[in-house]
Amino acid sequence: MNYFDQNDERIKSDILTLAEMINKEAEGFTRRPFTKWYAQSREWLAEEMGKSGLDVQIDAASNLIGRLEGSNKELPPIMIGSHTDTVTGGGRFDGIIGVLAGIEIARQLKEKGITLEHTLLIVDFTAEEPSEFGISTIGSRGMVDNLTDEMLNRTDPNGLKLSEGIKIAGGRPGDISKEALKSGDISLYLELHIEQGPVLEQTNNDLGIVTGIVGIQRYRITVNGQPNHAGTTPMNMRFDALTGAAELILEVEKVAKKSYKEQVVGTVGRLFVEPNGSNVVPGKVVFDVELRSLSTSTIDQMVEQIISKIKDTEINRNLSVSIDKLSQSEPIFVNEDILKGIEEGCEDVGKAILLPSGAGHDANQIARIAPIGMIFVPSKDGKSHCPEEWTEYSQVTKGVCALGNALLYFDKKQSN
Ligand code: HGY
Ligand code: MN
Ligand code: MN
Repeated sequence: MNYFDQNDERIKSDILTLAEMINKEAEGFTRRPFTKWYAQSREWLAEEMGKSGLDVQIDAASNLIGRLEGSNKELPPIMIGSHTDTVTGGGRFDGIIGVLAGIEIARQLKEKGITLEHTLLIVDFTAEEPSEFGISTIGSRGMVDNLTDEMLNRTDPNGLKLSEGIKIAGGRPGDISKEALKSGDISLYLELHIEQGPVLEQTNNDLGIVTGIVGIQRYRITVNGQPNHAGTTPMNMRFDALTGAAELILEVEKVAKKSYKEQVVGTVGRLFVEPNGSNVVPGKVVFDVELRSLSTSTIDQMVEQIISKIKDTEINRNLSVSIDKLSQSEPIFVNEDILKGIEEGCEDVGKAILLPSGAGHDANQIARIAPIGMIFVPSKDGKSHCPEEWTEYSQVTKGVCALGNALLYFDKKQSN
């Protein structure tokens, strides 16, 4: 049974309003956390939450939370959330539709006079995307006390400390641990998200019932060589940090292309060269490696292979190379009861299939303290993290209906 309306016009207006609150000097739709565009979008979201009947607050980790009191105060709340920060040059849908879906559901509960037994929390998590601090899912990490002091003391290239950034966004870093949620504090976490891949479109499905989310490990590799004159330094007398880094980057690709018990991916998406002059043999290169899989032991196997290649490259090229772990999120699997409830939510809304998520989400963090479930809607040509990211508004509203139905299913089921 579908209890919600597909209000395409309203979701379109919300998406286009947020798509204006971006850094117009950057490519694509860019709204990085702790910036004035992010603050502007947060203000608008808080207003919309208020108009939808939600009590709005900012928690210690600076997450924006709308609260709709339920009739049974004994029951721990149900949480719906996602993020509205983007990657640089990103799109208009990644994360954003999950927060807007929560607000739209609150609107329709109010319009339809539906009162939940559970209190409902709608959350916009701060800084889900990999940040300039080398950490992703900052707000959801904070919510479950998974932000270490070392992380809070990290600075971005402008010298801003993460704890300062959290304060700028309205948080209270000193209270994060004290106010963190523990197991049992929420009944369930649900998230609507774009698939960011090609499966739903290629299989002609409207909705994805997410079975699991990959774990992600991120490392920073620093290659130290010797800067020198590009014209006068013979090839056999060079300690070229960039050709050494290139050898290691190709090794990441080679290791990730091998076959393992679980599907894996490995990416180097960020690289800095010093001194970065066309007539200077590079002296230092820093690049980030990201490895993903539903199996942590498989990622660990990949890391071991990369470390052994680092040792060979150091010897063969007379370089010194260091590798530091930036962050790690564990793979998670959605339990059968949740899958069933989400399947019920999707019925009478659209065609749905089960599929894993190759993208990481705030749900990875919230899974540390509560059962989680996710619903995907299709991504045109499987594209995401780019301006071409696109999902039809009617596909988004199908996701909203499925999410709302799943919420009603669990509200009833978990109160008996
Ligand atoms: O990188 C990811 O998987 C997500 O889009 N933040
Ligand atoms: Mn993303
Ligand atoms: Mn996302």
